[in-house]
Amino acid sequence: MTAAPESLARRAEPGRVTDAQSMAVLRELLADTGLTEEAVCARTGATSIYDFTSIREGRVPGQASDALDVLIRLFLDGDLMDRAVIRQHLPDRAVHAIEGLGLLGAPRHDASKQFATVLLYPTNNLWLISDLPLTAAGSPKPLSADAVYPAITGNTRDFLSSLPRTPCNRFLEMCGGTGIAALIASRFSTRAWTADITERSTRYARFNGELNNIDNFLPVQGDLYEPVRGLTFDRIVAHPPYIAAVEQTMIYRDGGPDGEQFTRALLRGLPEFLEPGGRYFMTCVATDRVNAPLEQRVREMIGDSNAEFDVVVAERATRDPVEYFRAVAKGGESTVQDSKAKIAAYAAIQAEKLVYASMAIERHASARTPFTARRSVGGAQIGAALEWQLDWVRLRESPEFAARMLDSRVHCLEGVQIRSDQRLVGGSWNVERLEVSVETPFRTSVECSAETAAILTRCTAPILLRDLARDLVADGLVGSKGVDAAVVSLASFFVNAGCLDTELLPAPATVK
Ligand SMILES: C[S@@+](CC[C@H](N)C(=O)[O-])C[C@H]1O[C@@H](n2cnc3c(N)ncnc32)[C@H](O)[C@@H]1O
Repeated sequence: MTAAPESLARRAEPGRVTDAQSMAVLRELLADTGLTEEAVCARTGATSIYDFTSIREGRVPGQASDALDVLIRLFLDGDLMDRAVIRQHLPDRAVHAIEGLGLLGAPRHDASKQFATVLLYPTNNLWLISDLPLTAAGSPKPLSADAVYPAITGNTRDFLSSLPRTPCNRFLEMCGGTGIAALIASRFSTRAWTADITERSTRYARFNGELNNIDNFLPVQGDLYEPVRGLTFDRIVAHPPYIAAVEQTMIYRDGGPDGEQFTRALLRGLPEFLEPGGRYFMTCVATDRVNAPLEQRVREMIGDSNAEFDVVVAERATRDPVEYFRAVAKGGESTVQDSKAKIAAYAAIQAEKLVYASMAIERHASARTPFTARRSVGGAQIGAALEWQLDWVRLRESPEFAARMLDSRVHCLEGVQIRSDQRLVGGSWNVERLEVSVETPFRTSVECSAETAAILTRCTAPILLRDLARDLVADGLVGSKGVDAAVVSLASFFVNAGCLDTELLPAPATVK
């Protein structure tokens, strides 16, 4: 058992009390103080809330010159502050409300000081609470096993960027923590559920919903899909724990011996909980194994009805398990013994690569051929890219696709690159290799023939595919037999690669 540090003796339980009046006063304080991402960044020099760095550097901890400083010091820096300084800058009724809500604690033997009991920060035009890091004055040491995961980590940023922000009806966030994805989705869905196993995360998520005055947001507690059994959803998202660990010491982090325990269980639940036509988005680390790349394994994890699903895995980064766990030990984050055990465990399951990926899965609305793909993340807004990829496959498999393509315009997308390797042979330059590459919607590079590249150069301005086919025949580049089908097939290949835009499904606007 962990002994309660003395400094926490008067710690209140955050999120237990959420009386409407105190919440309104807190909301008013945060709004009046201007606790926005921009303001925090401007005040601290951070480039984004995800890169938040303490304003403590070069200044005396606990000092503050206005209300914004006090809020940053308390709720982002986790400083121990003078009670008097807090009261100097914050209105009495605001301090009273914050205390009543259990967001301020005090050391047992120094009534002149106070500390925050939670992180409280602006993100995605919301204010959220989550648990403090170890460095904060009010943090229990060690952290409790059910600590609520902060929504301003790089991993949560990646997860959120992998989610489309398009309308949906019934949205479910699994492994929700603060409830961040469902809170954002409450803006474009009819109802947004967030589910988490811990009472603590569920309580904080409820607090976050109330703080932001959101009434179509429903936090529920239980193991994986248990709390939503009997319901179905048209969008499900998850950022599960995925660090390999035999025992679950930190509930937000540890994902079983191979790190895939929750990933597997979440995928296995899709046939029951995802509606036909619905989509699932997940960001996690999982493995490529010998003769079993991750995208194929994801398909298998869905279970017997996996042929009803399309699977797109967008790789963010890959690591060799041996190198990775050696580096972890070298960096002091684990013991050499632990690192060796992990390397042996990964070798035993024939894991070749650790893959940090965001994936999208669609359940077919009607019977069609299943699609499986592996892509590489290029731009930042991968959610739009994943959504587009699934839309494209759905379109490509639809009736009359070839005829519709022929009667639509295509054009080369801005930023497409064509590289050629040439060799001087007998006084003339021979093209030995041509490569077409793009960064968005996915990082792609494909080798192609000179004839194919020449076709791309004819699409600088929008051109009807039927006219392109006719021009190619007229210029003697291809024969007339089967030209329409060949041109549709080639154009489809380049649309899928992200080189060509078709007016049937414009390429997503992705930020580089
Ligand atoms: C990495 S955190 C993600 C939190 C949040 N979605 C985010 O992206 O910031 C993983 C979450 O999974 C929850 N979790 C762990 N085991 C679970 C289970 N069996 N069922 C439901 N949630 C679980 C943890 O409590 C934690 O909140």
